[in-house]
Amino acid sequence: MTQTLTIRRPDDWHLHLRDGEVLKAVLPETARHFGRGIIMPNLVPPVVTHEDAQAYHGRIMEALPEGMSFDPLMVLYLTEDTEPEDVARAHASGLVKAVKLYPAGATTNSASGVQDFTKVAAIFEKMAEIGLPLCVHGEVTDNEVDIFDREAVFIDRVLDPIRRAHPELRVVMEHITTKNGVDYARSGGDNLGATITTHHLIINRNHILVGGIKPHYYCLPVAKREEHRLALREAATSGDATFFVGTDSAPHTDPNKESACGCAGCFTATNTMSCLAEVFEEENALDKLEGFASLNGPAFYGLPANEATITLTKGDPVSYPAKIDTTDGPITVFDPGFPLHWSVEV
Ligand code: DOR
Ligand code: ZN
Repeated sequence: MTQTLTIRRPDDWHLHLRDGEVLKAVLPETARHFGRGIIMPNLVPPVVTHEDAQAYHGRIMEALPEGMSFDPLMVLYLTEDTEPEDVARAHASGLVKAVKLYPAGATTNSASGVQDFTKVAAIFEKMAEIGLPLCVHGEVTDNEVDIFDREAVFIDRVLDPIRRAHPELRVVMEHITTKNGVDYARSGGDNLGATITTHHLIINRNHILVGGIKPHYYCLPVAKREEHRLALREAATSGDATFFVGTDSAPHTDPNKESACGCAGCFTATNTMSCLAEVFEEENALDKLEGFASLNGPAFYGLPANEATITLTKGDPVSYPAKIDTTDGPITVFDPGFPLHWSVEV
């Protein structure tokens, strides 16, 4: 008997689309299955102002192939010079759905991020007042802190103090990778949500390092021990509305990944829904997939769920391209390391 599952069209609550030729190449990979995406602003230069977001939105819509529909939800990159009035205008226009906090130096193109969190308190106040969510890259940048501990330390040192100072601020813990992140998100009440990536449900740190270094599994926050991956799987498949998918699909061309100093990012846009169906089936939680992929995110952001649906069908292994070609070079698609039996129809 054929097994099928029809769910509301999913959204991606954390997505890197880049710009130019890479944008053109990767956008259809997401738009094929997803209705909306929270678009990360870490371009060079970053998307800081309302005007930057309007221009970037225009370039994304221009890159969308005829006949495809996709709604990019724009995000402003928080700097110490961001102006509360610009943020308020961007929100009031309906274009901007979140502001992104990158601790300066934490990850790709985060040099313009925040060093002194007290300098952005007025922005947080304004955001709390107007109900605009803050998306947080939750890692400290302190060189004294081991890279595998940076998320847990960030929660204690940075995130919890911000949330205590601004209890009305709506916060999304982006791409959580630890049990500490899961526990903190769960305890945070209605103003706190958390995204979980596809790849952090599938790989742990051994996948990156055992049997040779695997640059295509290197991302930030870096994948942790197995016990953390299991905590993420439990959270994602639990039905708890705190958790929703944010793929953090982050394209870099192969020469930039396969290098002596390779870029961080897993490119999962192409096969995410098939990967998630496999994970949720393994956890006997296929009935929770729609909540995680299509309902919990819109509910957190105060948006309606998509009206359209997608249908997942189980059968012979589905093949996806190993790489997406761009004029800047090939981009390797995430390899989950197991066959994908669930195909997606829109
Ligand atoms: O792995 C990552 N890649 N993590 C990030 O935080 C940034 C992203 C990127 O922009 O490539
Ligand atoms: Zn990201």
